[in-house]
Amino acid sequence: MRIFLDTANIDEIRQAAKLGVISGVTTNPSLVAKEKRADMKAVIREISSVVDGPISAEVLSLEPEAMIREAREVSSWSPNVVVKIPMSASGLEAISALSREGIRTNLTLCFSLNQAILGAIAGATYVSAFVGRLDDAGHDGMQIVAEIVNIFDHYKDRIKTQVIAASIRHPLHVVAAAKAGAHIATIPYSVLMQMVKHPLTDIGICRFAEDWQRISKA
Ligand code: G3P
Repeated sequence: MRIFLDTANIDEIRQAAKLGVISGVTTNPSLVAKEKRADMKAVIREISSVVDGPISAEVLSLEPEAMIREAREVSSWSPNVVVKIPMSASGLEAISALSREGIRTNLTLCFSLNQAILGAIAGATYVSAFVGRLDDAGHDGMQIVAEIVNIFDHYKDRIKTQVIAASIRHPLHVVAAAKAGAHIATIPYSVLMQMVKHPLTDIGICRFAEDWQRISKA
């Protein structure tokens, strides 16, 4: 499983990139707005200068023609850009047209197997299943990820779409995404840092240092 960072915060992206464990970034309009930056193009270009991997940038249009036009513009910002398209009939229409043009897409706001199947058939490069939001609504979000992976695997000769476990809220979600066979988990920076930490590691480092000080002073 690969890890993408789910943020538009450039400092977080720089820090995470240094660890060598991030192979892409996902953003959405809410994440960009959270950074109080209205110039999406500048944000995406800055991210692309830090991470050489897929960078998801979302369209805001809702009609297919407008989505396609916006997606062409967004994809011109950097060769790394993957255009995020929200699930809807218009979104599917846009994804199928863009896939014929060779523009990579990420079907976002995917909450069901049917939506994922349609996205894959339309030619989405990625489908993003929103685990945390499904959990919030009383569903088992990770079960849906596992089932999407299973279905895509069943048709692996035809379906090349990769499954992103998105809306990840805590480290156990990441482990569950890996167990479910998700190709990618896109995670907030805070979750990445939680994954790094273990209290026994901190205790172990302290003890090594103390023991070494004792013997080196003896
Ligand atoms: O990648 C999708 C993600 O940003 C949504 O996360 O926490 O807003 O449900 P959340």
